[in-house]
Parts: sequence; structure tokens; C-alpha cells
Amino acid sequence: MGVVVITGGTDGIGRGLAADYLRQGFEVVVVGRSARKGQEFQEPGERAHFLAADLSLVAENRRLAGYLAERFPVVDVLVLGARYHRSARTVTADGFESNFALFYLSRFLLSHGLAGPLGRAEHPVVMNFAAAGQTGGVRWDDLQLKQGYDGVGAMGHAGRLNDLLGVSFADRHRDTGIRYVLNHPGVVATSFAGDYAPGLAVQVERLKTVGKSVQASVAQIRPYLDPDWSQPLTAVLEGVRVPLDPALFDSRDAARLHELTVGLLSRAVA
Ligand SMILES: NC(=O)c1ccc[n+]([C@@H]2O[C@H](COP(=O)([O-])OP(=O)(O)OC[C@H]3O[C@@H](n4cnc5c(N)ncnc54)[C@H](OP(=O)(O)O)[C@@H]3O)[C@@H](O)[C@H]2O)c1
Repeated sequence: MGVVVITGGTDGIGRGLAADYLRQGFEVVVVGRSARKGQEFQEPGERAHFLAADLSLVAENRRLAGYLAERFPVVDVLVLGARYHRSARTVTADGFESNFALFYLSRFLLSHGLAGPLGRAEHPVVMNFAAAGQTGGVRWDDLQLKQGYDGVGAMGHAGRLNDLLGVSFADRHRDTGIRYVLNHPGVVATSFAGDYAPGLAVQVERLKTVGKSVQASVAQIRPYLDPDWSQPLTAVLEGVRVPLDPALFDSRDAARLHELTVGLLSRAVA
């Protein structure tokens, strides 16, 4: 079979996808911070791997991409699903707002960092849990959300940045055959990892009772990861393909964000 790498694969939808790929005979690498969850995932046997990494840190993403590229010369599927809600604005040791760092920058670094091993696969695909066109504008003058931070809005904004990451990735890696899927799963009953303000914590507990099951979400996602799905860039909302609205999936905006991101990375981290 092939190799599947899943960030956020120790829990929630990522874990569900990991189990699904394991059942199909793939070699599956999940990435997260919890050694306990990682250990549980590895129990089925030698095709299940866990790598511990704090993906909110740039160096950890680079270390992970380097290790994976060496250990697995060919990667067939990359799923980008790590997230952590923070009701209060938090800055990482690298100086980035935490959602920008984990929800966007990590996915930028791993998408581009693993383009080599992905490009060697027969039917490579990246799936990024993004906005799929469901959120508003980019805060070009405040990407680190210093003004008027709210945790839910911050995740939505990072989702929007990931939509543009998908556009620029598809533009830059056009000749590699790597497909990029931007997926918004809707409300799914997962761990909703995060530090929530008390009022929001109550709402999140309710979402865990009304959200669709992980299994149902995995069933909505899988068709778009299969080899016969041939589109270079796809946006999907709860299993339904969404048109790529030119105003939201604009190549110039995507290129602008790419350049800004490269600049931020070069200035902030050696
Ligand atoms: N659930 C929903 O209703 C919903 C709705 C819209 C979008 N989504 C998106 O779907 C994706 C999956 O969400 P989910 O709800 O299934 O996830 P989840 O249950 O909240 O699990 C989050 C995952 O992220 C990992 N993680 C958190 N912080 C990390 C860090 N600093 N470094 C590395 N890994 C870290 C966790 O691993 P450890 O515990 O091992 O650290 C865990 O595997 C996310 O992108 C989310 O935004 C979900």
C-alpha cells in the first residue's frame, strides 16, 4: 500500500482517518503531543507509528519534515489536522500568535516541506482542514491578530489562510501531480482540544453531543482523498464539493500570503 502522515492524528477526525487507513493496509504515521494517545495508536502493530512534536513551533515542523523525508522517501497522503483553541491570545516561543503558528504556519511548513516525498507518489494528496470558503477576509495588516482577538474568530482566520495556502501550493507545485484538498468537516463530536473561556466551554460540551460522529466525518472526507479524484485543488464542505469562488481563492492573494509567510519565517526564526 502506501504511507499516510496525519498531524492531529492522535485524536478526533485525524485519529478516525488514521484508523481507516490502517484497516486498508497503509503505513500510518500520526503526529501529536500526547505520548499516551500515541502509544495507544501504535498498539495494533508495526504499520502504526507515532511521532511526538509540538507543531506550534517552527523548529519542530522542520525537524519533523526532515525526519519524515528521510524515513519515508515516498509519502502518499498528508493530512493536516492539528489544532488547539485558545480563548485568550497566546504567543509562541517563536513570537507567533498560537493559531497562526499551529493552524496555519505548521501546515505551510509541512505542505511545502514534504512536497518532495509526496511528488514521488503515484497519486499524492494533501488534505488540509481549512475554511473551504466559509470565512471572510484576510487581516492583511494584522496577521498576528493583535487587535480584537477572539479565539473562534482566530481559528476561522487561520482556516482562511489555509484556503490561500491550498491555492498557492497548487500554483507552485502544478507539475508534481500533488492534489490539494481543503476540507471543512462541519461540527464533529471530537475532543475539541483547547483552553476555553467558561461560557464557551459550555457550548463546546454541547457541540460534542450534537456533532456528527468521527466515523460519519471520515466517510465524507475519504472520497476526495482516493486516487480517482483528479482535481488539483478542491474545497469540500461536509462531504460536498464547494465551487472555488475567485474572490476567495485568488492566486494573487495566495502569492501575497506566501511571500509574507516566507518573510515572517526568515525574520523570526533562524
Ligand atoms: N470537530 C469539529 O467540529 C471541527 C469543526 C471544524 C473544523 N475542524 C477541524 O478539523 C481538524 C481536526 O479537528 P478535531 O476536532 O478532529 O481535533 P481534536 O479532537 O480537537 O484533536 C486535536 C489534535 O491536534 C493535536 N494537537 C493539538 N495541539 C498540538 C500541538 N501543539 N502540536 C501537535 N499536535 C497538536 C492533538 O494531539 P495531542 O492531543 O496528541 O497533542 C490532537 O490530535 C482541525 O483542523 C479542526 O480545526 C473540526
